[in-house]
Amino acid sequence: AITRIVAREIIDSRGNPTVEVDVELADGSTGRAAVPSGASTGAREAVELRDEDPARFHGKGVRRAVDAVNDSIADAVVGLAAEDQAAVDAALIELDGTPDKARLGANAILGVSLATAKAAALAHRLPLYRYVGGVDARLLPVPMMNIVNGGAHADNRLDFQEFMIAPIGAATFAEAVRMGSEVFHTLRRDLLSAGHSTGVGDEGGFAPDLRSAEEALDFVVRAIERTGYKPGADITVVMDPATSEFFRDGVYDYVGEGVRRSVAEHVDYLAKLVADYPVASIEDPMAEDDRDGWRSLMTRLGEHCQLTGDDVFCTNETLLREGIRDGVANSILVKVNQIGTLTETLATVGTAHRAGYTVVMSHRSGETEDTTIADLAVATGCGQIKTGSLSRSDRTAKYNQLIRIEEELGTQARYAGRDALGLRR
Ligand code: PGA
Ligand code: ZN
Repeated sequence: AITRIVAREIIDSRGNPTVEVDVELADGSTGRAAVPSGASTGAREAVELRDEDPARFHGKGVRRAVDAVNDSIADAVVGLAAEDQAAVDAALIELDGTPDKARLGANAILGVSLATAKAAALAHRLPLYRYVGGVDARLLPVPMMNIVNGGAHADNRLDFQEFMIAPIGAATFAEAVRMGSEVFHTLRRDLLSAGHSTGVGDEGGFAPDLRSAEEALDFVVRAIERTGYKPGADITVVMDPATSEFFRDGVYDYVGEGVRRSVAEHVDYLAKLVADYPVASIEDPMAEDDRDGWRSLMTRLGEHCQLTGDDVFCTNETLLREGIRDGVANSILVKVNQIGTLTETLATVGTAHRAGYTVVMSHRSGETEDTTIADLAVATGCGQIKTGSLSRSDRTAKYNQLIRIEEELGTQARYAGRDALGLRR
C-alpha cells in the first residue's frame, strides 16, 4: 500500500517550475515522476495549476499544486494499493471534482498517477514497460526526431512548429537513433555552410531563420540524402505544423511567410507538400476548431498519409470518440499531461487502436529528465514516439531509455518500422 507521498517544485527544460512527486510503498519501493508542460497547448487540455504569483517565477510557480499533493491528495491516496492504478486514479479524479482537473491541477494529479505506477512496478521487480504492458510489451517505437524547430518552439520565422525524421527502414531502435544522429550532424554542417544559425529550439532541433516549409524540407531531405539514406524508404519526413497556433478568423495566417491561406488553399498547400516531399505523417495539419477542414483534408490525403490529431483530441477519450465519429484524423498523439492520469491515457490508446487509429506517444516541449513515456510507448505497443531531437538531455533521455529497453528485451524485441505508420502506399 501507499505509505507516503511527497511533492516538490523542480525546474523543467525551459527553466520553468514543474511538479515532481515521490510515492513510497510499505516495502520501501519509491516511484518518482516529473510532469512535463506544453507551449502550444490545446484549448481542451486538462489544466495545469500555476500559482499566478508574480513575485515568483514570473507567476509560473507550482507551489499550490505541490501543496495539493502533500495535503489533500496524500490524505486521499495513502493507504490505497499502488497496484490498483484504476482505483488510485479514480480517487484523484473524484477528489478534484472538475472535468478538466483545474482544482488540484493536472500537474499535481499526473505526478501522483505516474509515480504510483512506477512504485508498483518496483515493488513487483518489473521494468515499467512490462508492469504496464505485460508479457506482450516488446515493440520498440519508430522515433520521430524533431530536427528543425519553428512556431512556438523557436524565435525564428518558421510558421510550422516541427520538421521531423522517422527512420522507418532501420532494423532496430538503436539503429534508428544512429541514423537520426547522423542526419542531425549532416544538417548542422549544411545549415552552417549556408550561413544559417545552428542554435537549437525548445525540442533540441535547429532553429534557423528560414522563411517557408519548403526551405526547411529542402534542408531536411538533402541532409537525409547526403548522409547516404533514401528519403521515404529509409527515413521518412514527419511534420507538426501545429496549425491551431496560426488559424485566425477562419484563415490560416502564415505570419513568417507573409501569406494568408483560406482553408481550401491550406489543404491544397499541404497536399502539394506531400506530393513534392517524402512526408508520411502530418500532426495537427488542421486547427482544433476547423473540423470541416479536417474532414476535407482526410478526404484528400487520409488514404496515403498519417494525419495525427494532437490539439483536436487532447488525449481525451470523449474528444477522440467524437473525432472518430466525424472522420477527423486517422491517428492520435498521446500526451499524458493533456489528460492527467495513466488510466485515462491507456483508455484513450485502447479506443484509438480499436478504431484503427495509429497512436504516437509524445513528450511536451517543456520536459524533464523523466523517461516514463519511453516505457509507455513500449507498454502500449503503439509503435511510434515523438520526443524531440538528437540533442538536449531532456530529449535524448527518452531515446536512451528505449535503447536500454531494447537491450533488455534482447531477441524478443521487435522494431516497429514502416508498418507502424499504417502507410498504405
Ligand atoms: P507542446 O508541443 O508540448 O508545446 O504542445 C508539442 C506538440 O505540439 O506536439
Ligand atoms: Zn503537436
